[in-house]
Amino acid sequence: MTYAEVYGAWKNDPEAFWMEAAEAIDWDEKPSKALFEKGNNLYEWFADAKVNTCWNAVDRHVENGRGEQTAIIYDSPITHTKREISYVELRNRVATLAGALRAKGVEKGDRVIIYMPMIPEALEAMLACARLGAVHSVVFGGFAANELAVRIDDAKPKAIIAASCGLEPGRTVHYKPLLDGAIEIAEHKPDFTVIFQREQEVANLIEGRDFNWHGFQYGVEPAECVPVEGNHPAYILYTSGTTGQPKGVIRHTAGQLVALNWSMKNLYNVDPGDVFWAASDVGWVVGHSYICYGPLIHGNTTIVFEGKPVGTPDAGTFWRVIEEHKVKSFFTAPTAFRAVKREDPTGEYVKKYDLSNLGQVYLAGERADPDTIVWAQEQLNVPIVDHWWQTETGWAIAANPVGIEILPTKLGSPTVPMPGYEVTILDEGGNPVEAGTLGAIAIKLPLPPGTLPNLWNAEARFQKSYLNTFPGYYETGDAGMMDEDGYVYIMARTDDVINVAGHRLSTGAMEEVLASHPDVAECAVIGVADQLKGQMPLGFLCLNAGVDRDHDEIIKEVVKLVREKIGPVAAFKLATVVDRLPKTRSGKILRGTMVNIADGTEWKMPATIDDPAILDEITEALQSMGYAKA
Ligand code: COA
Ligand code: AMP
Repeated sequence: MTYAEVYGAWKNDPEAFWMEAAEAIDWDEKPSKALFEKGNNLYEWFADAKVNTCWNAVDRHVENGRGEQTAIIYDSPITHTKREISYVELRNRVATLAGALRAKGVEKGDRVIIYMPMIPEALEAMLACARLGAVHSVVFGGFAANELAVRIDDAKPKAIIAASCGLEPGRTVHYKPLLDGAIEIAEHKPDFTVIFQREQEVANLIEGRDFNWHGFQYGVEPAECVPVEGNHPAYILYTSGTTGQPKGVIRHTAGQLVALNWSMKNLYNVDPGDVFWAASDVGWVVGHSYICYGPLIHGNTTIVFEGKPVGTPDAGTFWRVIEEHKVKSFFTAPTAFRAVKREDPTGEYVKKYDLSNLGQVYLAGERADPDTIVWAQEQLNVPIVDHWWQTETGWAIAANPVGIEILPTKLGSPTVPMPGYEVTILDEGGNPVEAGTLGAIAIKLPLPPGTLPNLWNAEARFQKSYLNTFPGYYETGDAGMMDEDGYVYIMARTDDVINVAGHRLSTGAMEEVLASHPDVAECAVIGVADQLKGQMPLGFLCLNAGVDRDHDEIIKEVVKLVREKIGPVAAFKLATVVDRLPKTRSGKILRGTMVNIADGTEWKMPATIDDPAILDEITEALQSMGYAKA
């Protein structure tokens, strides 16, 4: 079948399309139908089925003769460790961990926060929750205690599973003190924590509250897989929105199983037994869908890589892992390739390795710039697939469906919509625009299986953030266009979300932190173009009247404050003091204009600007920082 035929088959009869895809899943009770309309523009998939994610990702492969196959390869150039875990071993480890959690009172529906680095135990913790029907919420290790606390208060976990430490090049991330700090700040207190003690740093445990990962599993009864409803939340994953309060994206169990399984062959072109590698982190959606669940549900071997594209130990790490573990499909972020390309523009490291097993490479998380794609094409000589998705969708909205058919690549486009997604470009009034015209990218409801059905305890926010602007559509928050061939182009965000090294961050959240500094009267944070990371946050500070302290000191303090409050992942290092911020007459800060000035791109004087002279001051400030070059 061609892509057009597959997409057409879905469009013709979505119900039949997804029911057929659902046949690849082991159900305890089969769904009677695919789509369930809940009213109020809410939809659920396979809601009346009974199923267990862990059974589908682990146990069934053991039952079907894959027990000896490697499920997880742990490759950590940071600790010089490599380890393989077979499916049977994974099943046993996860069943025991789940049994220990159950013995401490964790049951179906209870939330469990997981705060762990890239070690196989992170996946085991996720799968153990899935086994019990507990709802996990993984928090990325680059977030500080305060961010963890915000998530604890929103998810109200019964337990938190963490590691003693994470390892960044040249720096140990002390998870345990961060965790203790977060529990102290949070109003909600978990019943207990489980700490995986790494040999690089052994953490102090608090008697009666903290339990040792190994010790607390001693002598427990392994847990069986608990069947849950198709619409039972598999997890909550917090992502950045406009404000400092992150959005808790919910993923339902059955939709995720069906959609991810479908994507493994049709998109990522792997068959059961093949090695699939997503070089991301379990704290992000890519890690949920394509380090943990997708490959395991589909019976692949997945790689847990604890390292960086460069410096661990060199720019050949990716190629070494691909050769050594015979990776067939590789998924990374454009920023990672930019980092490699900067150190190895002519691909000297690439030549050192045998990449003959590599079939194709996938890029997502941020815009893939044509230079990077062309470099990768030339170095690797395999299809380089840019694909576009979001935490909210859980899997690709637009991609080149390599497992179905390889469509011609158009640089700058993540190719075409996947089945399930009717992508539409709308003007401000919500009317579809013609091919080639820029607009807001929206998706006709319902979204396909595997996407978010709602936000955790925040339905009003869900409606407001995604459904109200364009009735009948899901608003992606991205702007772009579609060409005559139906190729999608993603140009910019329509909100205050920026993308730094493939990490989604909220400028609003950073502004809240800057505004909390006693000397700051007003502030704005924008994302400026960065050669390596795509974007970098840059802050403008207006100081309170009478503050006559050294500006550099104040800047140092706010940089430290963002690191403390949000975390190192915010990568907030650039700030400047200005007298005033450019605003519209109604008082809205003109962030978009400041971005254009900073990046040296064309811009028009906004008709609603209050005082155009302020833009000269902004330009001057930016120029003194090396931005705003004509
Ligand atoms: N735990 C704790 N801290 C972390 C972390 C983690 N899991 N991940 C990143 N950080 C820290 C980094 O150590 C860095 O701290 P520093 O300010 O002390 O140097 C900070 O957060 C910023 O990290 P990052 O933006 O990743 O930059 P970097 O300079 O460390 O590395 C790249 C640059 C390009 C090599 C790196 O960004 C990279 O590997 N990107 C790939 C992104 C990716 O895979 N994204 C997943 C989305 S699909
Ligand atoms: P996240 O939720 O962290 O995955 O971030 C999602 C956002 O990243 C999207 O809304 C886009 O703004 C951006 N993004 C992800 N993939 C792509 C891509 N292939 N091209 C352009 N932007 C992308």
